[in-house]
Amino acid sequence: MPKAPKLPANVATPAYVLDVARLKTNMATAARIRREAGCKILLATKAFAMPAAFPFMRDTLDGTTASGEYEARLGREEFGKEVHVYAPAYAPGEVERLTKIADHIYFNSPEQVEQYLSLVKANPNLHVGVRINPGYSNATLGGALYDPCAPNSRFGTTREEIDQLPWGKIDIFHAHTLCESRDDGSVGLINHVAKNFSAYIKRVKAVNLGGGHFINKPDYNIEKLIAAIKAFRAEFGVEVILEPGAGLVVDTGYLVSSVIGMHKNGKDIAILDASASTHMPDVLEVPYTPPIFGAGEAGAKAHSYILGGKTCMTGDIIGEFSFDKPLKVGDRIVFGDMMQYSFVKNTTFNGTPLPDMAVLHEDGRYEVVRTYGYDEFRRRLG
Ligand SMILES: Cc1ncc(COP(=O)(O)O)c(C=O)c1O
Repeated sequence: MPKAPKLPANVATPAYVLDVARLKTNMATAARIRREAGCKILLATKAFAMPAAFPFMRDTLDGTTASGEYEARLGREEFGKEVHVYAPAYAPGEVERLTKIADHIYFNSPEQVEQYLSLVKANPNLHVGVRINPGYSNATLGGALYDPCAPNSRFGTTREEIDQLPWGKIDIFHAHTLCESRDDGSVGLINHVAKNFSAYIKRVKAVNLGGGHFINKPDYNIEKLIAAIKAFRAEFGVEVILEPGAGLVVDTGYLVSSVIGMHKNGKDIAILDASASTHMPDVLEVPYTPPIFGAGEAGAKAHSYILGGKTCMTGDIIGEFSFDKPLKVGDRIVFGDMMQYSFVKNTTFNGTPLPDMAVLHEDGRYEVVRTYGYDEFRRRLG
């Protein structure tokens, strides 16, 4: 676990806090891969879409990749540079609007290509991508829940249907199959695609190897990724694109919360102003237990507590942790590694307030960039 952040004593909670120094460290990894492998790197905004962070990412990255019209618009308006977009299917009118926002539009199936190819190709500045399901699995968490190549997955054209696509009119071969994968997954995907899809790769200008490359994890071997991309580029002469989300922002920020109540039922329970259900849904979905600065696993330190949110959902439990001193109302609990797939998934279930969005600058300045109140809750209810 990295060192605890130096936060001002009076931080209002709950708050998501981006740590600029840590983000810059992660951007340096991306810059190195980009430079040495000669590939493009996009930010997948589905994982992390914080406009206040974009000034610290823009110079390093080539642009953003979106999951649909709204994220594409965010990328265009707030990030700039290239805008890529992929969805398993587009809503009526969405592709038409996307032709005015995005530069690269990816389709999922021969059916989607058939529906939209001529619309996109009418603009010579736009590029068409197709997502292929290459049948390569390496998701390191969540099992089938996070494996795009799980049986009957709705993602990507399968080998059986690949020849129905109009190769020759397609610019980008796209394969997103990884999830929190280390270099063995990234390199395995590259080799798998090179071995099994060479005939198709020879017909496109670029190959997008998706996200899930966990490049900023200490046990990820960057050299191996760089070597594999270089070899792939040398073999096929194509542009290579990576579009990680989590791998760009892993360990770059926090969810700061406070203990607001204590309870006892067999075990000691502390209720927080942050919630698994509304503020960190992956804790329940994956599921996983987030790190807390200064805490250990249950039983490791003198005082153990179950930590939960104040929503009515019985399962709104973040986990069981232990602390050196007994917890009391008003204590601050700082969760680490809380930038990816956290605030982008927030809800206001139970009228739970949304955490502030804040930035911890390198000089120690704490900047709250957005707060939310009742209006945000009310607005979503129609
Ligand atoms: C098509 C596509 N690209 C990129 C990503 C980003 O993946 P990650 O945040 O795991 O790097 C995802 C995640 O679901 C995705 O579906």
